[in-house]
Parts: sequence; C-alpha cells; structure tokens
Amino acid sequence: MTNRPLSNGKALAITVGAAAFFFGLLLFIPSPRSRPPQVSSDGGTANPVTAKESPESLFKSRCVQCHALPALTHRTPEDWRILVLKMNRYMKQTGRRSLSDTETREVTHYIVSNQR
Ligand code: HEC
Repeated sequence: MTNRPLSNGKALAITVGAAAFFFGLLLFIPSPRSRPPQVSSDGGTANPVTAKESPESLFKSRCVQCHALPALTHRTPEDWRILVLKMNRYMKQTGRRSLSDTETREVTHYIVSNQR
C-alpha cells in the first residue's frame, strides 16, 4: 500500500464534512445579542441604552460627572432650561453619558419642581 492522492469523492466528502462541522460549531456559540435584558435590583434594566431612568436618577447620575451634584438654588425655569442644555452640550463634547431631548426636558422639569 502506497500513499495515493485522495480520490475526488473522498476529498469532497471530507470538505463537506468539515464545513458541516464548523457550521455546527457556529450554531453552538451563544450570540451576545440573544441574551435577554438583565433587570437589576432597583427595578431598572442594566442596559444603559434602553433603560428608562427616572428624572431624579438621571439628574443624580448625569450631573455628578464633572462636579458635585449642584445645589438646586432658585433660578427661573428658563435659566435652568438653558443651563441643562449647556451642561448636556459639555457632556457630549467630553464624551460623557448625556441626555436625550426627552431626558433633558424631564431633568429640567425635575430641577424646577424641586428647587428651593
Ligand atoms: C461635562 C461636564 C459637566 C456635566 C456632566 C455637568 N456639568 Fe454643570 N458645570 C460644568 C462646568 C465646566 C461648569 C462651569 C462652567 C459653566 O458654568 O459653564 C458647570 C457649572 C454648573 C453650575 C453653575 C453654573 C452657574 O452659572 O452658576 C450648575 C448649577 C451646574 N453646572 C449644573 C449642572 C447640572 C444640573 C448638570 C446635569 C444636567 C450638570 N451641571 C452636569 C460641567 C458639567
């Protein structure tokens, strides 16, 4: 018996077999996208993109990224609106977690109704 080259039939069978094997492997590798969103203990979801945060938690998480949580001293609603817009622009410019348009309105409303 000498080492003869594989016949076309055998080579094809091996190729198809290997392809089927790797395809099978692919199906077994869990995809990160198929994981269900994880719910954290405070009732919010762990995913920062889709989680719906309360205006208060938005204020407390976003407004401490550069300075201490600002005291809610009295300003007119218009002043707060402009200030939050300006802060949000800083957040975007420095690549920090920022606020969507809706969140900006919610946070401004939270500040205005909780200021002293
Ligand atoms: C990206 C960093 C950053 C984040 C995040 C941030 N701030 Fe600021 N904040 C600044 C800087 C810088 C100043 C000082 C310069 C200025 O007033 O423009 C400031 C100043 C302030 C002041 C004093 C301004 C004044 O005119 O007396 C208040 C009040 C304030 N921030 C509130 C907030 C609130 C509310 C939030 C959340 C919506 C927030 N900040 C988030 C950077 C930030």
